[in-house]
Amino acid sequence: MKLAIVGVAAACLLVSGSAFASEELAKANNCMGCHQMEQKGMGPSLKEIAAKYKGDAEGAKTIETSIMQGSKDKWGTMPMAAQANVKEADAKALAAWILSLAADAK
Ligand code: HEC
Repeated sequence: MKLAIVGVAAACLLVSGSAFASEELAKANNCMGCHQMEQKGMGPSLKEIAAKYKGDAEGAKTIETSIMQGSKDKWGTMPMAAQANVKEADAKALAAWILSLAADAK
């Protein structure tokens, strides 16, 4: 039984291609040091970001680019440096995850 569960989890990892598109990934990449789910910290809250870009056809791309190349003058005076240690596949996964938070951010 336990083995079967492990097998399914491993299969999911293979299919998704990236480690895991979730809060764990954000934590692993230190995003949560500046971003919180609900509340503004050093940077805007992830739900605020999701709400801003959810109706935007280019939203995922914009978020991904901001993660890879940094962002400034969009949310306040504090810029975000390029998150140079984040792999492109992970930036994509993070962008999709952040956007998915908009569902209950209405
Ligand atoms: C040192 C603090 C810091 C860290 C670490 C950080 N951010 Fe940011 N982030 C900011 C700040 C400040 C802004 C606002 C920048 C602006 O006004 O354009 C921001 C903005 C953003 C935005 C909005 C960009 C836009 O185009 O509107 C996204 C998405 C984002 N961060 C994701 C991430 C992710 C994902 C990580 C982890 C890989 C991360 N951030 C790590 C401080 C940080």
